[in-house]
Amino acid sequence: MANKLMITDTILRDAHQSQAATRMRTEDMLPACEILDSIGYYSLECWGGATFDACLRFLNEDPWERLRKLKKALPNTKLQMLFRGQNILGYKHYADDVVEQFCRKAIENGIDVIRIFDALNDVRNLEAAIKYTKKYGGICEPAISYTMSPVHNEDYFVKLAKELVQMGADNICIKDMANLLLPYDAYSLIKRLKSEVDVPIHLHTHNTTGTGDMTYLMAMQAGVDIVDCALSPFANGTSQPATESLVATLKGTENDTGLDLGKLAEAAKHFRGVAERMMKEGILDPKVLRVDTNTLVYQVPGGMLSNLISQLKEAGREDKYYDVLEEIPIVRKDFGYPPLVTPTSQIVGTQAVFNVLMGRYKTFPQNSKALLAGEYGALPGEVNEEVRRKAIGDKEVITCRPADLLAPELEKYEKEVKELGYYEQEEDVLSYALFPKVAPKFFEARKEAKEGKSAAPAAAPADPNKVLSLYVEDKSL
Ligand code: CO
Repeated sequence: MANKLMITDTILRDAHQSQAATRMRTEDMLPACEILDSIGYYSLECWGGATFDACLRFLNEDPWERLRKLKKALPNTKLQMLFRGQNILGYKHYADDVVEQFCRKAIENGIDVIRIFDALNDVRNLEAAIKYTKKYGGICEPAISYTMSPVHNEDYFVKLAKELVQMGADNICIKDMANLLLPYDAYSLIKRLKSEVDVPIHLHTHNTTGTGDMTYLMAMQAGVDIVDCALSPFANGTSQPATESLVATLKGTENDTGLDLGKLAEAAKHFRGVAERMMKEGILDPKVLRVDTNTLVYQVPGGMLSNLISQLKEAGREDKYYDVLEEIPIVRKDFGYPPLVTPTSQIVGTQAVFNVLMGRYKTFPQNSKALLAGEYGALPGEVNEEVRRKAIGDKEVITCRPADLLAPELEKYEKEVKELGYYEQEEDVLSYALFPKVAPKFFEARKEAKEGKSAAPAAAPADPNKVLSLYVEDKSL
């Protein structure tokens, strides 16, 4: 298959989200944009995921302003974002009118490719985002959250991919957020997708388990169209495999990416400086570069493992770590085999901790109840009914599309922002809707800076502990 392999570089989003708690600032990015824009990537992933939250919460930046600046600095390269289905970039389900407005504003401000995923692979949670991405002219890339379980096999993923194409997918992404997709399985899956699905296949993995480069090479041999890499200063470990290594590997072959190693080196030089500064500030811990084979043994994402350790530490029960690891597969099975990605990874992990510390299913956190009640969408496998009844009693399980239960809410958010005196642009309504506690603090600082009460707001100081506790949940995106 003589196909030029295309590359998306994640240096401006997933790379620093996975390695440096999403703390790269717009001013760290802009000096490299001219060279990045000349490289010839399929796209640059630069927005969405946790970047929006981090801009408002820690960096005192308007995420919309970041997007506009990047668009201006990168006129020749498609800009890509990560979008969490009906959750958009937040942590709950939003009504369709908010999803529509977010798609419209993201595209208007500069996004070209929207990658949309749902933790449960419930396509009804992708419906609105797919529809509105297309309505406003974006390239629509629904993602399949990759996982392994008795219900998740090749047939399942191929069927899902076909459904997404029917719904209007321009590309299909296989999103292997935990680096569980092993090289030979990748070959087999991509081979089938290429023969049964007619749109480009875009593969996303990490190098947490040290298998990422091999997975890409095998996927390429099976005909994958696009893969996600990161420039070397923020590559590998919990991030993506390095762009330069793959480009060099394919030089002169029939799959040559055509990307210039000299230009990549020039861009990497800039980001090496950024990485060195972050290391000095303690934001980037070299530990993230270690190969973590526990994920291969327990099939639990790396980000989730560190989350468990911190939960157990808080409870003073670190001795129970391996008991919890053994409990996770039991909970996952009883809960109908959800893929372990935000937010289901936290829900299953926390339930496993509760089971070990307080007795199995003696206590259910609120999120467990919501998941079992169908509030997040349909669970992929069969749920243990006895466990479900214990959790939610006689409460009826939601079987419709969860967002059908939500009335339009955009107007309400707009009214609130205006009443609070923060409204400067239409986009502010969305920032407020997604982060109602965090956005007002940003708006307040913006207002003060404008009124000259204080100098331009400084970025919040880095507190590595805070970084961890708030962001472990987003590490495995
Ligand atoms: Co990722």
